Amino acid sequence: MTVLTDLSPHLALVTGATGGIGKATCLALAKLGCSIAVHYNTASSTASELVESIKSLGVRAASFQADLSSYDGARSLHASVIKELGHPTILFNNAGLTLGKSGVKDIGEVSVEEFEATWRANCGSAYLLTQLCVPAMVERGFGRVVFCSSVAGFTGGLVGPHYASSKSALHGLVHWLAGAYAKNGLTINGVAPALIEETKMLPGASAELSAKIPIGRLGKPEEIAETVLWIVKTGYVHNKIIAVDGGIKNPAPPISAATTFTSSTSRPATIASAPEAWSEVAENVVGVDEVVARVPVAPNATDDDAAALPLAPEEPLQPERIEFWFL
Ligand SMILES: NC(=O)c1ccc[n+]([C@@H]2O[C@H](COP(=O)([O-])OP(=O)(O)OC[C@H]3O[C@@H](n4cnc5c(N)ncnc54)[C@H](OP(=O)(O)O)[C@@H]3O)[C@@H](O)[C@H]2O)c1
Repeated sequence: MTVLTDLSPHLALVTGATGGIGKATCLALAKLGCSIAVHYNTASSTASELVESIKSLGVRAASFQADLSSYDGARSLHASVIKELGHPTILFNNAGLTLGKSGVKDIGEVSVEEFEATWRANCGSAYLLTQLCVPAMVERGFGRVVFCSSVAGFTGGLVGPHYASSKSALHGLVHWLAGAYAKNGLTINGVAPALIEETKMLPGASAELSAKIPIGRLGKPEEIAETVLWIVKTGYVHNKIIAVDGGIKNPAPPISAATTFTSSTSRPATIASAPEAWSEVAENVVGVDEVVARVPVAPNATDDDAAALPLAPEEPLQPERIEFWFL
């Protein structure tokens, strides 16, 4: 069975299960028979109601309180879950916060303490929970770890530097974990939503916000839940950060290196002469429209690598039509 349709042998730990995305994901997993450890921080009655809804689907469920801005909170959450329900085989690291700071315009608006606290809750605790859950997954030869990032992890987003950096840090974590555990039956991925309504972060839509989204509306928690479900069911999806964002593109203008890149109509040999610039360009040109070439970017790329590229020498390179391929 390559696509799982029955999750009844599994237990999912969903952090932030009392938020819009977490709740929808718990229900989507439970409908396929998955037992659920419902994590919450402050919303105890929402957690209790959710547990009852999940149990009515005929699966096991219990709620667990933990403040994930503290590492002890993450440790006690894991200990309580294994004591009451067993070892999770599915971990959705979904809890997230902004410290109530959004729309930050100046770096001075976020203190380094707030920066670090956001990072600890959004990334550090997700790391610790993963570290605690992975050994049992490896022993069982099966695991699914999904991190809830944000489109801000790619683009910088609208919230602020504390939030964006706490989310992009998850991307590096996904890639490292994916390399380390691919042979153990674990898949490691992230989902990167943008502007999901019916969440505490974003309770309702406005015409102004909807206009920012190419498809003209905000997303729904169920659309993120469905993506997580697809990742859980499909063992061939690995080492990916899946954006679910209505088609948002990187609003940041290309950096100066991109200008050099375009105007020089650089030949692949540029890779050898300025590999850092190419890497920098590659990191800043996201959301390509059309792929006409794959450009290997590596610190030690050589002219021989460049010569092997499938690019006609006369053809100007246009960053928006190139997919960068990291070696
Ligand atoms: N909504 C969006 O537009 C959007 C866009 C991109 C990414 N995301 C990401 O999606 C994830 C889920 O958020 P959501 O949209 O569903 O928002 P939400 O409705 O605000 O839910 C946030 C969840 O995180 C929990 N949480 C907050 N602070 C916590 C803490 N200190 N310790 C433990 N848990 C804590 C909350 O628990 P309690 O309610 O029980 O306190 C709640 O369950 C987050 O990681 C968020 O960054 C959301």
